[in-house]
Amino acid sequence: MRIDKLLANMGYGSRKEVKSLLKSGNVVVNGTGCKDGKQHVNPSQDEVFVHGEKVVYREFIYLLMNKPQGVISATEDLRDETVIDLLEPDHRVFNPFPVGRLDKDTEGLLIITNDGQLSHQLLSPKKHVPKTYYAEVKGVVTEEDVEAFSEGVTLDDGYHTKPGDLVILSSGEMSEIELTITEGKFHQVKRMFESVGKKVVYLQRIKMGPILLDENLELGEYRELSQEEIDQLKNR
Ligand code: URA
Repeated sequence: MRIDKLLANMGYGSRKEVKSLLKSGNVVVNGTGCKDGKQHVNPSQDEVFVHGEKVVYREFIYLLMNKPQGVISATEDLRDETVIDLLEPDHRVFNPFPVGRLDKDTEGLLIITNDGQLSHQLLSPKKHVPKTYYAEVKGVVTEEDVEAFSEGVTLDDGYHTKPGDLVILSSGEMSEIELTITEGKFHQVKRMFESVGKKVVYLQRIKMGPILLDENLELGEYRELSQEEIDQLKNR
């Protein structure tokens, strides 16, 4: 990462201010004065001092993305664009990865981080982190489905799911629902509806643990989680 970018990211001012800071001779990289904003530094290895004080580059980033359809929840893919491809280079340098997977055609809340411990906590089946989905379902969703989901349903591979909290928003030829589940089996929401003879035609994740999808984010956009949100996630 360029030193001027790193300093700007760390709050040392605008690009212009950082440029004059560098020019002033007060930036030292690995013991040598650095005046060139284009110089590359590795934030996890190089030592950067400003006015004699060490710049402690943060180790972790926590991003909240509104995942669009057509993009894969993975770090790399030979054919398709991934959620990591949608990140700015400044965020990509942290080598983040998505916390769990959303299907290619699923939209909505995706947390992206390089904090392996937090990711593990959020995905561990033992932690029962609730995830809420909004879905449009072909077919009339009924109170019997609500009842069935509350007891868990048997998927096509014989797995009996944990209870799901199904809320019917509207019911008709095309129904709208919200479903909260505490597991993350492959295609789980779609397969739960298949088990009661219905088809999910649109799926969006709107909540994970305490974190809500930010409605200000357009599809494909993302923002950093606030410190409060990070604390909520860690302390849940
Ligand atoms: N359930 C699904 O079927 N798909 C997803 O992407 C997430 C949950």
